[in-house]
Amino acid sequence: MNGFMRFSPTRRALLRDGILTVLAIGVAGRISAQPAVPAQPLRIGIIGSGHIGSTVGTLWVKAGHPVMFSSRHPEELASLAHDLGPLAKTGSVAEALAFGDVVLIAVPYRAYPEIGRDNAAALKDKVVLDAGNAVPARDGEIATEARDRGIGETSAKYLVGARIVRAFNTLGYRVLQDNANRLGERMAIPIAGDDAAALARASDLVTAAGFDPVVVGPLTRAREFAQGAPLYGLQVSAAELRHRIETMK
Ligand SMILES: NC(=O)c1ccc[n+]([C@@H]2O[C@H](COP(=O)([O-])OP(=O)(O)OC[C@H]3O[C@@H](n4cnc5c(N)ncnc54)[C@H](OP(=O)(O)O)[C@@H]3O)[C@@H](O)[C@H]2O)c1
Repeated sequence: MNGFMRFSPTRRALLRDGILTVLAIGVAGRISAQPAVPAQPLRIGIIGSGHIGSTVGTLWVKAGHPVMFSSRHPEELASLAHDLGPLAKTGSVAEALAFGDVVLIAVPYRAYPEIGRDNAAALKDKVVLDAGNAVPARDGEIATEARDRGIGETSAKYLVGARIVRAFNTLGYRVLQDNANRLGERMAIPIAGDDAAALARASDLVTAAGFDPVVVGPLTRAREFAQGAPLYGLQVSAAELRHRIETMK
């Protein structure tokens, strides 16, 4: 008698249903090769398509959103876009800003003043998901400013008029790759911003990327999950993250 036959008919049926359910989740979720079709595809511009920008942008393409990847050298992003298929394209920073209903900024933080200056008109009222961390060794003086002023306030100072939501800054890109759409409780992504509609849109996009958004509060509270702060780097569920936020009060 083989192993399967040792189960009673009822247990066999339960086992079969369980296997089918797992397969169905897999097909609908993380192991699907086909992009999903979101109810409302959002056009997303990525400013800075290195480790974090390409990772999160890829998750959005897989969720069915059209994404334009940009950097100062968009020609270097051609193979990334090619591999992702027709929903992905490349362009300059200005083109990505014009393309995106929403943009993700994922560049070294020292580049913020230049990007803000060069794209002032396009940034006005744009929903910007801000994944940058200010790192003294890499970013210099502006990292001191971000520490003293607050990272959210500093982003707002340089990306004038943008509807900023801090998001996707707390976890390394490999953690994001490995845990997107994971089975069981999803991993939480803390977010913070002042604009309710922008927060709602960012929440939808965190969900689309395969994580659970947790709104920590207004932009001033982004310092609570800035690099080195208590909520930074936590690989926890939304329930656990909310508990940590509560116990910090
Ligand atoms: N790596 C992570 O796991 C991780 C996790 C969370 C947050 N972050 C934060 O996310 C940001 C990006 O980190 P990363 O590791 O993804 O960096 P990265 O791999 O070095 O990629 C940076 C990207 O930004 C582009 N870039 C640099 N300066 C630019 C400018 N002035 N205008 C337009 N594009 C510019 C680069 O391309 P060109 O040089 O060709 O322009 C590149 O595509 C940083 O602030 C980092 O602290 C990183």
